[in-house]
Amino acid sequence: MPKRDNRRRRTIWVKEGDSRVVQVIDQRKLPHAYEVLDLTTTDQAAAAIKDMAVRGAGLIGVTAGYGMYLAALEAPRDGSFDEYVLRAGERLKATRPTAINLARAVERQIKAVKAASSIEEKISAAFETAREMVQEDVDCCRRIGEHGLEIVEKISREKKGAPVHILTHCNAGWLAFVDRGTATAPVYAAFEKGIKVHVWVEETRPRNQGAGLTAWELKESGVPHDIIVDNAGGYVMQHGLVDMVITGTDRTTITGDVCNKIGTYKTALAARDNGVPFYVALPSSSLDWRARDGITEIPIEERDPDEVTHAEGLLDGKIVRIRTAPQGSPARNYAFDVTPARLVTGLITERGICQASEDGISSLFPEHR
Ligand code: MRU
Repeated sequence: MPKRDNRRRRTIWVKEGDSRVVQVIDQRKLPHAYEVLDLTTTDQAAAAIKDMAVRGAGLIGVTAGYGMYLAALEAPRDGSFDEYVLRAGERLKATRPTAINLARAVERQIKAVKAASSIEEKISAAFETAREMVQEDVDCCRRIGEHGLEIVEKISREKKGAPVHILTHCNAGWLAFVDRGTATAPVYAAFEKGIKVHVWVEETRPRNQGAGLTAWELKESGVPHDIIVDNAGGYVMQHGLVDMVITGTDRTTITGDVCNKIGTYKTALAARDNGVPFYVALPSSSLDWRARDGITEIPIEERDPDEVTHAEGLLDGKIVRIRTAPQGSPARNYAFDVTPARLVTGLITERGICQASEDGISSLFPEHR
């Protein structure tokens, strides 16, 4: 990925010289300030996930993986070690319910810890498993970029080299993973190859992950983009200004129903009405092999209504919160919605592109058939 400065381009790492400290970019401060947060306990890792210092399905999973390593470090060195780690896993799992990557990371760590014999081996198994998760995340995002690039290249050829306009919602960029991201991976791959691309960034109320995070990422990498309000997505599609949509997902069912940031469903409806292809980019770690009906089976997080009734931004060098709704008006803050498989043109995975259907997914992942 192009670098404009020497700041890190990964979202999570182990502190140099002190492997008991995990460091993350504090995404609550972006795009206004770049700050690094130290995580030294499971509870700090859980709080970072809950308060969205780290967010995005992939990064939530990897942070939970490291949170379990921190649990292993702090667990009593006696017969209650495994039990302590198990309970730490429950605390991590309770932070945010929708992204399946979280529970999956915790369960994988529990298995790794249980399988090791001595306490030293258990700690080192948890550390190695967290590192494996990082590497898998990086590899998957790179391969998603390569597969998605084929679609962007095809559109670019059809347009005889004119810019390919890609619309995205929320942030499924490198900030939502360890590196490169999913929805943005084909964009970065195309940009690096010299293909002209332009991204429409839906702002993504209420927390503005599009305007704050995706726009920041693209700006830092020099990728042309424009931020639009969520409600403008339909307008730009209606006026022929969008060639394709790519979003990420927090959980996709085996039948291809896609759960993603609230508003994704409306974007998919507008795409269908305007004949714009709607792709979802995801690592298989976001596939829920047990769920079939996304609308009834995926738990949807409901967050603090204050995020809806207030807005946050920079004023005189300080991040401030202001109320935009009348005092006393109640609000509901549904954080995710489900786009039915029928509205999804294709899934871009680390193993290739498939239809959003049970047959399509099984053709790429036959071991889960
Ligand atoms: O609430 P967030 O910021 O964690 O939600 C992020 C998204 O909805 C992303 O689009 C999603 O995680 C898919 S990409 C990891």
